[in-house]
Amino acid sequence: MIVAVDGPAGSGKGTVTKRIEKDLGFLNLDTGATYRCVALEMIRKNIDLKNESEIIKIANAIDIKIHNEREKDIILLNGEDVTKEIRTKEVTAIVSQVSSIIPVREIMVEVQRKLAQGKNIIVEGRDIGTVVFPNAELKIYLDAKEEVRAKRRYDENIQNGMNITYEEVLENVKMRDYNDMHKKFGALRKAENAVVIDSSNMTIDEVVEKIKILIKNKQEEL
Ligand code: DC
Repeated sequence: MIVAVDGPAGSGKGTVTKRIEKDLGFLNLDTGATYRCVALEMIRKNIDLKNESEIIKIANAIDIKIHNEREKDIILLNGEDVTKEIRTKEVTAIVSQVSSIIPVREIMVEVQRKLAQGKNIIVEGRDIGTVVFPNAELKIYLDAKEEVRAKRRYDENIQNGMNITYEEVLENVKMRDYNDMHKKFGALRKAENAVVIDSSNMTIDEVVEKIKILIKNKQEEL
């Protein structure tokens, strides 16, 4: 069974899908991590955002794997654990533009489909229900107000010891929303048959419970 969860930055996709992974034994695939790996490799190789042909080469050459270790997902880039490094503000600042390059998207969509093969999986991203898995058994569009999403990301960053202001995070959220919604290919939008959940005034537990009920109902239907 494939559960697709799409939504903007900070809508709670990551937190919620990890909880579902833990509670229901689904594997969690964070597709944003694949674009973040491309961005990290670019930074390491000193490749500029304008140099699309080199970025495409990187996307083609890198090997991305996800390991589940004691309820934690480990992201491996060419065999190296980059779970933390792909979340730095340097990577976050360029990842949305990297993910707008159409050939990069085409390559990453194939990577994501391979990573998901043959598993009960909950997949989070922006275009999962529309492009990557249009036949997903259950599609969810998770949303929340801009300020609420920025506050969540800010709290998360502070907890991880990152030196960043709320205003910087809000700016980044706004910029990413714009980029994510205006992509020529794979733009963030609600799939026609997706269930919309607005988490602005909901706790994580409430969102998790709601999704669990949706999954259970779908499993009974199948
Ligand atoms: O979910 P995230 O913040 O880790 O995603 C990083 C970036 O990758 C985000 O700005 C948009 C892009 N992305 C995408 O274009 N398509 C996806 N399926 C997932 C992420």
